[in-house]
Amino acid sequence: MIVLKNVHEMKEFIKESKSKGKKIGFVPTMGFLHEGHLALVDRAKPENDLVVMSIFVNPLQFGPNEDFERYPRDEEHDYKLAKDTGVDVLFIPGVDDIYPKALSIHMTVKERVNVLCGKKREGHFDGVVTVLTKLFHIIEPDAAYFGLKDAQQVAVVEGLVEDFFFPIEIVRVPTVREREGLAKSSRNVYLSDQERIEAPVIYHSLTNAANSLCNNKGDIKSVLQELRQCIELNTSGIVEYVDAYTFPSLTLPKQIKGEILIAVAVQFKQARLIDNIIVDLG
Ligand code: PAJ
Repeated sequence: MIVLKNVHEMKEFIKESKSKGKKIGFVPTMGFLHEGHLALVDRAKPENDLVVMSIFVNPLQFGPNEDFERYPRDEEHDYKLAKDTGVDVLFIPGVDDIYPKALSIHMTVKERVNVLCGKKREGHFDGVVTVLTKLFHIIEPDAAYFGLKDAQQVAVVEGLVEDFFFPIEIVRVPTVREREGLAKSSRNVYLSDQERIEAPVIYHSLTNAANSLCNNKGDIKSVLQELRQCIELNTSGIVEYVDAYTFPSLTLPKQIKGEILIAVAVQFKQARLIDNIIVDLG
């Protein structure tokens, strides 16, 4: 596995790979890798000649009161996992490489951000699309891999690629979970022992909600109400939102039809967890 630490080296490497006709698959991450990230690599491997993974904790997508400073980092462990999973190139730029000077152009996401995490985390998705625009230009991938764990991110990135004609296929990868159903996340380390026992309730409640919708056991409002109650009763977390939207356009569903995203965010003492399920109602 090759490790590259600055933009110039990365661009040179890509230029050479492109001249050899290599198909490039890209897995952007913020590191502290776990099986969720590695599933993206597993998916990218057979579909590309080269898999490039970036590790960059992007300051622009963290709000002033969020966890940028204490976002977990472990470069050595990440290196080993990336190598063992078959990443060909690990791109680990510094903040000054990606943001050498103050930006003269600011990107503002207009659609798909006034709901769910976007509503609460103002400017978060502006930071995500800004860094991805930079990374897409540096790496020029044929395909980029994103986890459905962050379904709103997938929706926003699909909008970015469509709006700006990036010649990149966005591949949606299903959420990887712990055995008891908790979605794998770098932030799970911040759960207390007790919270860790409670947290799988989130996914089980989501599954029940999805089944109820599929089996016509209630309208969306009552299904969401039951979902909220189930989490509130069985965990010590505070429910930030429990919502359902069409996917990927993230509008209010007018009827129980098509792809519906049911998404939740729960604030525990030291960790904010998000999870979702997408039901295809035909
Ligand atoms: P990060 O949170 O590190 O996630 C990197 C990628 O891994 C995202 O596409 C995310 O959806 C995916 N992922 C995380 N946990 C997963 C799980 N349990 N199952 C499947 N996929 C999972 O998302 C970001 O970084 C950043 O916003 C980034 C896109 C890198 C831009 O800075």
